[in-house]
Order: sequence, then structure tokens, then C-alpha cells
Amino acid sequence: MQNIKSYINTHQQRFIDELIALLRIPSISADSTYKDDMLKTADAVKNSLKDAGCDHVEICETDGYPIVYGEKIIDPNLPTVLVYGHYDVQPPDPLDLWHSPPFEPVIQTTDLHPDGAIFARGACDDKGQMYMHVKALEYMTKHDVLPCNVKFMIEGEEEVGSENLAPFLANNRDKLKNDVILISDTGMIAKDVPSITTGLRGLSYVEVEVTGPNRDLHSGLYGGAVANPVNVLTKMIASLHDENKHITIPGFYDQVEVLSDAERAEMAKAPFSLDAYKKALDIEAVYGEEGYTTNERNSIRPTLDVNGIWGGYIGEGAKTVIASKAFAKISMRLVPHQDWDEITQLFKSHFERIAPKGVKVKVMPHHGGQAYVTPIDSIGYQAASKAYEETFGKTPIPQRSGGSIPIVSLFEQELKSKTILMGFGLDSDAIHSPNEHFGIWNYLKGIETIPWFYKYFTELKT
Ligand code: BES
Ligand code: MN
Ligand code: MN
Repeated sequence: MQNIKSYINTHQQRFIDELIALLRIPSISADSTYKDDMLKTADAVKNSLKDAGCDHVEICETDGYPIVYGEKIIDPNLPTVLVYGHYDVQPPDPLDLWHSPPFEPVIQTTDLHPDGAIFARGACDDKGQMYMHVKALEYMTKHDVLPCNVKFMIEGEEEVGSENLAPFLANNRDKLKNDVILISDTGMIAKDVPSITTGLRGLSYVEVEVTGPNRDLHSGLYGGAVANPVNVLTKMIASLHDENKHITIPGFYDQVEVLSDAERAEMAKAPFSLDAYKKALDIEAVYGEEGYTTNERNSIRPTLDVNGIWGGYIGEGAKTVIASKAFAKISMRLVPHQDWDEITQLFKSHFERIAPKGVKVKVMPHHGGQAYVTPIDSIGYQAASKAYEETFGKTPIPQRSGGSIPIVSLFEQELKSKTILMGFGLDSDAIHSPNEHFGIWNYLKGIETIPWFYKYFTELKT
């Protein structure tokens, strides 16, 4: 593995150019007008796996977008690493807030990325991080240092809930058989503070619809005399938190995992600057559940947030109208032991119960998934930790993330293996936001670190 650094030095421009080519294809899974681009991206990923040394690659059809599969089996008696990633990206809107078009990648320096960062939708989440694995495989096969078997499963529906991946897992248990699952789709604390993600939050995502009168009404003729769905919806939503920012849905916290004081003290050791946090977001104060720190609020505690809300007139100027309907999209981030189906049900019955007379309420569940935690005494974690020590010169810090990759808990259920989350993004990389980017340093560091994981995992496993 010693020459991985020089291999990266020699080939870094090509690594960057190849990623840029992949980022040019707008693989937006949420928007069906991009179907052809989705298929084009799957094909490009398949070809890249072939070029990197996979012996067998295929496009696996699903009821939705295809899953790209690739493998290199060097000896069935050796351990197998299954790499998961996703080639789909979030919609780029609002477009006018991007400094350069989201699918025309440019390299720009920033304070945190003096070596430059690639700005494009998907640069970090997840094309850039997924592609690190492809290039790491290329290095290992070219130098004949791949120490174990490898399988790749790159899907195209992560950003829309991975609905077709669950049946794919159930129907392909043998094909996907592995000793550990490796994912780069999370972040790390800072470039000089490497960390390994040991937890992901679960998710329940719902859409609500409040209907009042059967048509939009003149707000003078009818105002004050009938329930206004927008007024009602906002009041209902406001009532979902109390003055301590606790969620008011009965039973919501019943199953929540309670961390010991010792565990919380351990978490608090991770370096964190509240001032830098506020400054990065241009806020004067943080906000959240009483009794918990910022890092606890965004990782070990469940939350409820409106992701979008609409209804009535939002065009230019003023129109005096009481809308017939109002809508909102709401996400609840969940923690270990909370069951997402059950939480969805609790939300639905509570929301229907608090609706005042004069409106009808519909709650439509979207997607969701369970939270995930991984122990740090596993072989997989130990191998990852040693890999970071090799390339960062420091022991990485275990850290729970607030984000969700719902499929990870299903991997454990269906494939009976643990997932190691080696993320190389930074929180400031603006994933899902305008001007998403991925540092070139981070990209190359990921490529450098991954082969060490294979080496140590194989050594510890055999
Ligand atoms: N890669 C992210 C999740 C993530 C990012 C976890 C950073 C930890 C740190 C993933 O692509 C994502 O966006 N997940 C969604 C859920 C999904 C069902 C749409 C999320 O967390 O909102
Ligand atoms: Mn992702
Ligand atoms: Mn994402």
C-alpha cells in the first residue's frame, strides 16, 4: 500500500476529470424528466467499475432506477467487502443561489479548501465519495494489492427513499453476501480531526394536507367566518413543540434510547466551537431542545421539522384570498429504538386529532427508516480506525451523525452484516444546498485511506 500516495500524485488530474465528467450528468432521481440522465449515469458508473478492475459488472433493473453491481472475487475463502453508494443526487433548486451552474462543475478555492473544491450537485453527496472507492479499487487492482474480494452496489434512489433496494436485497442475499459493508456518504469533523460515523438517525417523512372550504374564497367576503386552512395548518404545526422545544405528540419519546452520563461525557470530548458554528450559519444563537447541547440535539435526540409549506397566493403582488387547501412536508429524525412505522402512526393520529372542526386533514406517509448504530469494538471499526491512523496520523473520533441513510439498518436485517461509515465530507460542503462542493484534498485523502481499510480488515479477519 506504500505507493498509494505516489499513484495519487501521478493520476490526480485524471481522477478529478473523471469525477467532473460524472458530475456533468444531472442524475436527479426525484424528477422524472431526468430519467435518461439517470440511466446514462448508471451506465457511466458501470463502465468505471469495469475500468477499475471488476471482473463482472451489470446493471440490475428494478421497478425504479437500476442498481449498478460490480465484483472482483479473488478467492472465495477470503473476506468480502461490499461497497454501497448512490449515483442519484438531490434536485439543485433554488438555482439562482448557485454561483455556477450545478451540473457544470468548477474548481474554486475556499477558506476550508485552499487546494480547491469541486462545486457541483452531487460532488460530495454522493458521486464524489462513491467514486473514491472506484479509484481506490483501480489502485489496488493495478498494483495487485487487493487483499480480499470486493463487491459494489451503487443505487439510484437513495435520495428518494431507496424503495426498490429492499426487495433487491431480499432477492439477492447470496450475490450480496459479505463480511462488512463500507460506505462513504457521511462527513468527518474537520480535515485535522478525522472521525468515523458510528450512528445515523432514522426518519419518518410525511406530507399533510388541510382542506377547508371547497374552493378558494374572497378573504373579505368570507374572512373570519370560515376556517382558513393556512392559518389552521400553521397553528397545528406550531403546537407540535412546547416551550422547551419538546415534541408534543403523545408517545413520541417512549422508546427513545437514553444515553448514560458517561456516554454523553464521551461525546462532549469531540472538538466543537459554538462560535464557529454560529458564525458559519450567520446566526446569533442556536435553538433547540432544553437540556441538550448542540451536538446532542443533532445526533442523539429526535426532531420534527417542516421541510416545506405552501398554500394560497404566493405570486407577485397581493391577491385577497382564503385558500381551500394548505400543505406541508414534515420530517421526523429518529434515534435508536424508535420504530419509524410506529412514529408515523403516532404522528398521523395526533395530527388528525388536533384538527379543529371546519377542516379535513390528510396525512400521507412518504418514506422512512430506522436509526443505526455500530459498535467501535468490531473488526470493521478497528480496521477503519487503523486506516485513518495511517493516512491522517491520528486516531479518528467515533461520532454519531444527524443524517439518515435508512437502508443501512436494512442491510443489517437482510444481509446480517455491519456497516462502516467512512465519510470524508465536511458539514460546510453544503450537501442538499446550493453550491454543494467537495474538497479535492478530501477526495484524494479518501482514495488514499480506503486501500488501508481493505488491508487491515483482511488482516484482522483472517
Ligand atoms: N448522504 C446523506 C446522509 C448523510 C449526510 C448522513 C451526511 C450523514 C452525514 C444521504 O444522501 C441523505 O441525504 N439522506 C437523506 C435521507 C433520504 C431518505 C432522502 C437525509 O438524511 O435527509
Ligand atoms: Mn448521500
Ligand atoms: Mn443526500
